Amino acid sequence: MGKKLNRIGLLTSGGDAPGMNAAIRAVVRTCTHYNVECVGIYRGYQGLIEGDFMLMNARSVNNIINKGGTILKSARSDEFRTKAGRKKAYESIKEGNIDALIVIGGDGTFTGAMKFNKEFDFPVIGIPGTIDNDIFGTNFTIGYDTALNTVVEAIDKIRDTASSHNRLFFVEVMGRDAGFIALNAGVGAGAEEILIPEENLGLERLLESLKKSKRSGKSSSIVVVAEGDKTGKNVFELADYVTKNLPEYEARVSVLGHMQRGGSPTCFDRVLASRLGVKAVELILDGKTNLMVGTINNKIEMTDLEKAIKGHHSIDQELLRVSDIMST
Ligand code: F6P
Repeated sequence: MGKKLNRIGLLTSGGDAPGMNAAIRAVVRTCTHYNVECVGIYRGYQGLIEGDFMLMNARSVNNIINKGGTILKSARSDEFRTKAGRKKAYESIKEGNIDALIVIGGDGTFTGAMKFNKEFDFPVIGIPGTIDNDIFGTNFTIGYDTALNTVVEAIDKIRDTASSHNRLFFVEVMGRDAGFIALNAGVGAGAEEILIPEENLGLERLLESLKKSKRSGKSSSIVVVAEGDKTGKNVFELADYVTKNLPEYEARVSVLGHMQRGGSPTCFDRVLASRLGVKAVELILDGKTNLMVGTINNKIEMTDLEKAIKGHHSIDQELLRVSDIMST
C-alpha cells in the first residue's frame, strides 16, 4: 500500500441503481478494515458542493445490502457542471479533510469526477452503477442484472394479458442511449421484436415481422422498445403506426418507467457491488487515481475514467441474431 490517506469521501450520483447500497456498504466496511475514515456525501455532487457530509462506520451500513435505491441519495447537479461549482466542491472537500473520492454512478458521474481530478489533481476512483450497462471497461454495471429481472417479470405478466386478449403489446423499457436492457430482457422474455438505439431495424421490417407472426399462427405479440430507439417514433406513435398499417392487430402500450430502477438487488448485483467496493478502496490506498473498477470475464479490471466514458461498449450482434431466430 502507498501513502497513508486518512479520509475517503463517497457519493452516489446520477440515476440510482439497485446494488448501490451494497457498494456503499462495501466501501465503508473496507475503509474500516484498513483503518481509514469514510465520509458519506449526500445527494451526489450537489451535496459535495454544499458540504452535506456524514462520517460513516461499519455499523452505518447495517442491513442495506438488500435495499434498492441509495441511502446517500442521488442527484444530477447542474452546478457541478460549471467550473465555479467544482471550485466550491473543492473548497468544501478540503474543509471536510477528505483526501480522496469514490464515486458510484454512470457516465455523467465519471465525467464530473474526471474534470474534478484534472482541475484540482484530486484522487478519484469510479464504481459503475447504472441500470443501463452502457459503460466501457466492465461487462456489467451494478443494477443492470436487477433491472433485467424486473423487466422480464413485468413482461411475463404483460404476456399473460396479451395472450388472453390476442393483443399486440409495445413495452417501453429504459435506455435513452443504450439497448442493453431492451435486447437482453427482450430475449429473456421472448419478445417478437426488439427495437434499440444502436440499430435501426426500420419500420418496414417491423411490419413484415408482425405480418409473418400472424401468418405463422401467433395470436399475440410483444415488441420491446428501448426509450431511445432509432425508428424516430415513440412507443405510442409506433403502436398507432402499426395499427394503421395492420388493422388486424389490436395494440396496447405499456411504459415500464422508473420501476426498473427500484427493488431489491439480485445476488449477482450484490456480489458485483461488494467486489468493486473493496477494490475501489484498495486502489485509493495504493495511490491510484482516475480509474474505474469493473469486471471483465469475471476478473476485476481497471479502466481509465476517460476510456470508460468514451469507449464503445458494443451491443451483442449474436444476441440480435438469436432474437431474430427466436421470433420465428
Ligand atoms: O439511469 C439511467 C436512466 O435510467 C436512463 O435509462 C433513463 O433514460 C434515465 O435514467 C431517466 O432518468 P431520470 O428520470 O432520473 O432523469
